[in-house]
Parts: sequence; C-alpha cells; structure tokens
Amino acid sequence: MTVEVLVIGIGSGDPAHLTGEAVAAMNRVDVFLVADKGGAKVDLTTMRTALCETVIHDHAYRVVEVTDPQRGPDAERDQVAYEAGVRDWHQARAKRYAEVIRAETGPVGFLVWGDPAFYDSTIRIVDSVAALGVDLAVTVIPGISSVQLLAARHRLVLNGVGGSVHLTTGRRLVAEYDPGLGDVVVMLDGTLTCARLLEDHPDLQIFWGAQLGLPDEALVAGPLAEVLEEIRAVRLRLRASRGWVMDTYLLRATTPGPG
Ligand SMILES: C[S@@+](CC[C@H](N)C(=O)[O-])C[C@H]1O[C@@H](n2cnc3c(N)ncnc32)[C@H](O)[C@@H]1O
Repeated sequence: MTVEVLVIGIGSGDPAHLTGEAVAAMNRVDVFLVADKGGAKVDLTTMRTALCETVIHDHAYRVVEVTDPQRGPDAERDQVAYEAGVRDWHQARAKRYAEVIRAETGPVGFLVWGDPAFYDSTIRIVDSVAALGVDLAVTVIPGISSVQLLAARHRLVLNGVGGSVHLTTGRRLVAEYDPGLGDVVVMLDGTLTCARLLEDHPDLQIFWGAQLGLPDEALVAGPLAEVLEEIRAVRLRLRASRGWVMDTYLLRATTPGPG
C-alpha cells in the first residue's frame, strides 16, 4: 500500500504566514508526526499544535510523537566526523519513522519550520524511510523561510544587482567568508561567529533578526563593528525570557571584492 506523505512548510508559527496550499494540505492530514525533543523543540512542538488547532476545521487528525534518537556533541567534531554522525542519526531516525508510518494508511504530515528546503532534514529522512522499503507518495509544500522574513523585515533584496547570495551556517562561516561571495546569509549560528570576521573585514554590514515572525521578534542592522554588542545584549535578553534564541543574519561588504 502506498502511503501519502505531505511535507508542509509552515513558516514561523504565525498562522498568517501559512500559505493557502499549506492550510489545504494540513486539512487533509490524518496523522502528524512530530519529533519528541527537549528545549526549544518543546516550544516549537507546542506552536505546531496551536497552528493545527487554528487552521484545521472539520477534519479529525492525530499527532504522534516519535522519540528522537540521541545525537552526539556536534561542536567537538571535525567535518568528517560531524557528517558521519549526522548520517547515522538520520538513519536511526528514519527507522523509527518507518515503524510508525508502516502502521498508518495516511495521509501522514510533517510540519516543517520555515521552508523544508533550508537546513531541514525532513525531506532526507522521508527519502530514507522510502529507501527502507516503505512505499511513499511524497509531496512538498513550501513555506516562508526565516531567510525571506529577514529580507522582508529589513526591506532588503538579498543580492546586489545581478550578484550572488551565499547561504551558510555559523559552523562554516569563518572558513568560507570572502567578500567576492556577495551577500552572505548565515543560519544555525549560536555564537555570532561573524565577530571573528571583523579583524580582516572591518567594513562589514549586518542585518540581523531573531525570533522572526514571533511576538518577541528583534531586529538590528548597521556596521557589524558598531552593533555587535547590541546584538549580543538582545540575544541574552531573548534567551533569558523565552529560554532559546533562533536568529538569522545577512552580511554585506560595503566594498565588495572582485568576483
Ligand atoms: C534547522 S534551521 C531551520 C530553517 C528553516 N527551515 C527555515 O526555512 O527558516 C534553524 C535555523 O533557522 C533560522 N531560524 C529559524 N526560525 C527562525 C526565526 N523565527 N527567526 C530567525 N531565525 C530563524 C536560525 O538560523 C536557526 O538556527
């Protein structure tokens, strides 16, 4: 039997950011699978549940929590060990999802924060479930990413005229950064790694946003050297009040390099 799987991008948690296509898909899902994790993820799971209650009408659905396997300490690993660790973790996760999906007739839904195309493993995990021999018909519904929200809030075009945009993580930023990359969008950076670029690139501009789309949304923009301490202070305040911070930022060189 083929099980229909809907991977649905849900934006930031604000129901106004759900697309019509996402709302229609959510109203067809019989079982939502969510990872059972601690910390910020508990908060995000609560927000997903609230979204379902807001937009699903006259359709019975269940929410099934799938316990996540333990994941090792990423920060202490080199890139090869990190990638191997993530692969093992995805595989263990896929096996757990496969067990649950085999017991369902569908449609099964995954609610993905932002857009499934940006630093999210759901599509890969669903592919791994299929590779384990579960017959799936998968549809992906795009959502509004934190990258798009960041650009809109700062009223930015991400690329310079005809230029490139480089999307990366805090983990990779220092090794990769070069003004010739064009504008650089950084996600998954828990420690404001951009501070380490200042010595070589003192003219960088930053457009920073945290908790985008949520009631405690915060924005800061300006020369990185001048606003770095303000961003650090806002991060601390947000973490103290909510328990976690999610932030994304754009770095722009005022004097672009060649290329
Ligand atoms: C696992 S990735 C998920 C990205 C998500 N798929 C998206 O499209 O935004 C998590 C990272 O996304 C960014 N992020 C997610 N939600 C955010 C928000 N509400 N405000 C700012 N950044 C956010 C942060 O960089 C965070 O570290």
